[in-house]
Amino acid sequence: MAIGIEEALAGQLIDIRRHLHAYPELSGEEYETTASIRGWLEREGIRIAAYPLKTGLVAEIGGMREGPVVALRADIDALPIQEETGLPFASRRSGAMHACGHDFHTAALIGAAVLLKRREAELPGTVRLLFQPAEEKAKGAAEVIASGALAGVGAVFGLHNKPDLPVGTIGIRSGPIMAAADGFAVEVDGKGTHAAVPEAGIDPLVTAAHMLTALQSIVSRSVSSLDSAVVSVTRLSAGTSWNVIPELAIFDGTIRTFDEGVRAEVRRRFEQVVNGVAAAFGTTARTRWTGGPPPVVNDARWARTAAKAAAVAGLEVVEPRPSPAGEDFALYLKEAPGAFVFLGTNGPREWHHPAFDVDESALPGAAAYLAAVAAEALAALSAEGAGAGPHAAARAESGDGRAEAGAVT
Ligand code: NI
Repeated sequence: MAIGIEEALAGQLIDIRRHLHAYPELSGEEYETTASIRGWLEREGIRIAAYPLKTGLVAEIGGMREGPVVALRADIDALPIQEETGLPFASRRSGAMHACGHDFHTAALIGAAVLLKRREAELPGTVRLLFQPAEEKAKGAAEVIASGALAGVGAVFGLHNKPDLPVGTIGIRSGPIMAAADGFAVEVDGKGTHAAVPEAGIDPLVTAAHMLTALQSIVSRSVSSLDSAVVSVTRLSAGTSWNVIPELAIFDGTIRTFDEGVRAEVRRRFEQVVNGVAAAFGTTARTRWTGGPPPVVNDARWARTAAKAAAVAGLEVVEPRPSPAGEDFALYLKEAPGAFVFLGTNGPREWHHPAFDVDESALPGAAAYLAAVAAEALAALSAEGAGAGPHAAARAESGDGRAEAGAVT
């Protein structure tokens, strides 16, 4: 049976999404966005929790009785992109745009909050709503965790819109769904000399060129054909003149992997190639890592709960291809098990495109899904927390070994 969202609420959520879309704020600067979210929640009588966050906020529903805590997360920040959609509610701020649909995520979570508030008295625990800042800089999840908002959370859920999935579908999978996004920057030392007298120096350009070529063999020769990885060098810079061999070459880029073991091996091989090629050319190099988020890895049990909630919300479950983009939701999954899903929004363009848009008719389904998954997870955790009963024992036996991770004080 589908959870119905009446037309009035659906219309309100679309208005909220359009307001957020028209007034985007960049990562870490979501002051007005935070104030708007606070206003919408307070109008519904939803209590704001006192976690110390500069931007973003945490709210709670339920908790009338002792019980488990389930967290729902929406990211709220925009991107430094000039919008080109031509929509009537297009960004009114030059150089800022909700080009990843976080406006949609925020509106969906507010919708879920309204639905859950209506059922507050029946909730066997607490639903904690995480309106997270700075996802695009992969900083916000760490800030939310540092604020203490993941303490006591038994399961955590979130979603991302997906332009290549039709409205009415939801992509759910157990295991990895988004990639680890590691950044690297390499400095290759040279010894400057006249371009006509290369034997008097060390050429960092030729050395870097060999590194770039050799790095491309990591994925083909060091990663199993059954795993996947991307190594992309995206910037290379050296020299200032046509007749001078410079002192330094620098390049940077990114590595994407879906498994911590593959991630570690690719990074190990990367440094081995860089240092080995440098040695072969009689010089040295340094690799600096800018740690992006780890892979987003869904828990099998909670992926099944997500599928159950999708059915309640009237959505069709499809098996999604994992995305090589990064998501700092991965950090929450290090704190508590859970599931991150793709919600079909049938957009004309991929994420981060200046003409990116979502089909708003997906909004009621997204809100209904989030409310349903929180309710399902609370019910499962509270049944388990009931302790020594026969249900708890049966659940522990039939579980996938993660049941103990769901225990909540
Ligand atoms: Ni995004």
